Amino acid sequence: MDFQHLTFFATAAFSLEGLVAAELRRLGFEDAKAELGGARFTGSIADGFFACLRLRMADRVMIVLAEKQCMTFEDLFQLTLSVPWEQLLTVDGQYNVSGKCARSQLMSISDCQSICKKAIIERMRRHSSASVFPETGIPYPIHFSLHENLCRLCLDLCGSALNRRGYRTWNGEAPLRETLAAALVELSPWRPGMPLHDPCCGTGTLLIEAAFREGHRAPGMNRSFVCEAYPFLSKQQADEIRSKVQNEFEPDRIMNISGSDIDPEAISLASRHVHQAGLDGYISLQCLPLEELTLDHAEGVFLCNPPYGERIGDRKSCSVLYSHLHALLRRHPGWSLCAISSDPNFEHAFGKRADKRRRLYNGRLECQFLTYLSDEKKNRYSR
Ligand SMILES: C[S@@+](CC[C@H](N)C(=O)[O-])C[C@H]1O[C@@H](n2cnc3c(N)ncnc32)[C@H](O)[C@@H]1O
Repeated sequence: MDFQHLTFFATAAFSLEGLVAAELRRLGFEDAKAELGGARFTGSIADGFFACLRLRMADRVMIVLAEKQCMTFEDLFQLTLSVPWEQLLTVDGQYNVSGKCARSQLMSISDCQSICKKAIIERMRRHSSASVFPETGIPYPIHFSLHENLCRLCLDLCGSALNRRGYRTWNGEAPLRETLAAALVELSPWRPGMPLHDPCCGTGTLLIEAAFREGHRAPGMNRSFVCEAYPFLSKQQADEIRSKVQNEFEPDRIMNISGSDIDPEAISLASRHVHQAGLDGYISLQCLPLEELTLDHAEGVFLCNPPYGERIGDRKSCSVLYSHLHALLRRHPGWSLCAISSDPNFEHAFGKRADKRRRLYNGRLECQFLTYLSDEKKNRYSR
């Protein structure tokens, strides 16, 4: 196996695949291409580790080991057996196989897991002197994905998913997944250097992700990845990459990021998360209903994830809140406003058609990400 020339798959939430491919290309992976469920790119094992540290919107980074149509368990067994596992795994490693099946002949996840594991052990037995595999060593998360009978076998480099940045310990009310929050920051007209305010900031996810971007803070900087224990990733090289990424963090670039929320408990959770993200003093927070919010800057972007009113009883109060968001925008004529909502009534309740809308999924919930541009921005776009 050539660890200098590997194919990787960065998995992504449905609807974020194109954003992840573009993010990879910005990181220097020029061949990155979006596919259903993620983006594919190539590089060395060190590049794969770098991607784990840096990617903001992907869920995982995995090495693609084999891909082929599998109609039967025998096909799956032979495909798994063809992978040179002896070059990847230690004899005492924990071979943790997980996977998913969709629209395929093989639809039993547990049976596919057993077949893959059997083939891995068989291959290890044939290519090493070991006959016992105690599974007491380092974990190797191995993943299969069967979609329309095409099976992709991968080795995960991450362990816990990439949204686990290490700053969130308390969830509050309906927090956004960090990777989706990073995508909303990317899709909004906000760019580093501009003021950004989240008027219903909850636990502060959008603010922290924007601050990470503004300060060039790699989201994985303070967490570990399973691949750091893999024998084929040089420790020295991994340490060099990590320290390079750490040196790129410039917190003093972070300015004018702020948030407010009506709920004092949300603000105390947000302060805790800001602290745990190492951003004390770089994000200002205030307990205030958005109806009373007025900001000094002439221009900026409101970015928010207001309540959706999933329960019937909450719909009316959400409609009122959306109209208050419109009033907030009118009080700040140089500002743009972006909101994610699953409420199909959002634009009606807001009282204005959005300038842009994009369909996104918050977990399984279909949402719209709506953008209302300031007049100044609208003129700039129309020129
Ligand atoms: C869906 S949560 C936001 C979650 C947040 N994005 C996060 O990641 O934690 C909606 C937030 O809106 C806040 N909220 C509701 N009504 C509000 C109002 N009138 N003014 C300000 N905040 C409000 C709630 O307290 C709640 O924290």
